[in-house]
Amino acid sequence: ELGGHTDFMRKEMTEQPEAIARALRGRLDERFATAHLGGLGLDPMALRAIKRVKFLGCGSAYYAGQMGAALVEELARVPADAEPASEYRYRNPVVDPDALYVAVSQSGETIDTLAAVQELRRKGGRVIGAVNVVGSAIARECGSGVFLHAGPEVSVASTKALTNMTVSFAMLALLLGRVRDLSAAAGTRVVTGLRALPGQVERVLADDAEIARIAKRYAHARHMFFLGRVRGWPVAREGAQKLKEISYIHAEAYQSAELKHGPLALVDAEMPSVVIVPADDLVAKNIGTIEQVKARGGPVIAVTNADLPDGLADEVIRVPRGEPELDPILLTIPLQLLAYHTATALGRDIDKPRNLAKSVTVE
Ligand code: BG6
Repeated sequence: ELGGHTDFMRKEMTEQPEAIARALRGRLDERFATAHLGGLGLDPMALRAIKRVKFLGCGSAYYAGQMGAALVEELARVPADAEPASEYRYRNPVVDPDALYVAVSQSGETIDTLAAVQELRRKGGRVIGAVNVVGSAIARECGSGVFLHAGPEVSVASTKALTNMTVSFAMLALLLGRVRDLSAAAGTRVVTGLRALPGQVERVLADDAEIARIAKRYAHARHMFFLGRVRGWPVAREGAQKLKEISYIHAEAYQSAELKHGPLALVDAEMPSVVIVPADDLVAKNIGTIEQVKARGGPVIAVTNADLPDGLADEVIRVPRGEPELDPILLTIPLQLLAYHTATALGRDIDKPRNLAKSVTVE
C-alpha cells in the first residue's frame, strides 16, 4: 500500500501533482476562461444571486477555507470568510438566505462540520460540500458540491486533500468571478496558473533534501512562530498546525503586523520564525517583519517566491512564481516538508501522531 514510501504522509505529499491534475480534469474551460463544477447544481443566475460565501471546516479544512475565502474575494469580489465549523454550530448563527455556505472536509465525517451543515439546512441555508470521500455523511447531507478527487488519505496530517481543497476553491472563485466582472484575460491567467500547478508542486517537492537540512537545524526548538500577512496568513496558520500535529513542537501563527503588538516579546535566539513572503505588493512589509525578528536575535526561515535581499534570512526556501492568487497553494507545500522532516528528526510517529485521530466523528 505504501508503494515503497516510508509512511503515508510521505506518499501522500508525493502524490500531490497527480492529485491536483485529477481535481482539474474536465473542469477548466480555456475557451470561456472559466471552470465547470457540475456538482454544484447552480446555474449562472443562481451563481450571480450569491451575495457572500462562508467556508466552514475544522483544522486544516478550516485553513483551506480561509484560503478559499481570499480567492473568492480576490477573483469574484464577493465578500467571503471562513469560520471553524465547531464555533459556527454552537453560537446560534444568523443564516443568510443570499449566502453560499461551503462545508469543507476531507473525510466527510467530521461531527462538528456535519452538525454545522445540519444547523444550516434546518434554517434554510444553501450549503454545498467540498469533500474528498464520496458517499460520506457530509457529502450526502449537502447533496451537491465539489468532490476533491485527492484519492484516499491515510496520514492524520492532511496534505494532498488540503491542497485539492484550495485548488477546488480557486475554480469556484474563478467561476463566481466569470459570471460577474472578472475579465476573460484575468480568467485565462488563472486557468493557465492552475494548469501549471502540478509541475510547480513537483519542483517544490524536489527541494526535499534542502528542506530536510533546514528542518534538522531547527528541530531542537521548543517553540516556533509562523508569520504571514494577507495571502501568507492562512499559509502560516497551516504551517504551524502541521508542525504542532506531527513534531509536537509548540508553534504559533501570527499575522506579521500583529507581532509588534505582543508576541515580539518572545523573540530571541531560541525562537525561530518561519516567515511567509509571497511575491505580491507586500514584499517590502514582509522584509520589515524579517528585520524586526532579526534585530531581536531571532532566527528566520523565509518561505518565498519573491526576490529577497541576500543575507536577510538565515534560511530561504524558494518556490516557483505562478499567478499571485494561487501563491498560498505553492507556499504551503514546503511547510508540509518542514513539519515532516522535523518530526522525522525527532523520531515521531509520522502517520499516527499522539492524541489525534484522522477524523473526529464523536464529540
Ligand atoms: C482533525 C484532523 O481531527 O480533523 C485534521 O486531525 C483535519 O488533520 C480535521 O484537518 C478535519 O478533518 P476533515 O476530514 O473534516 O477534513
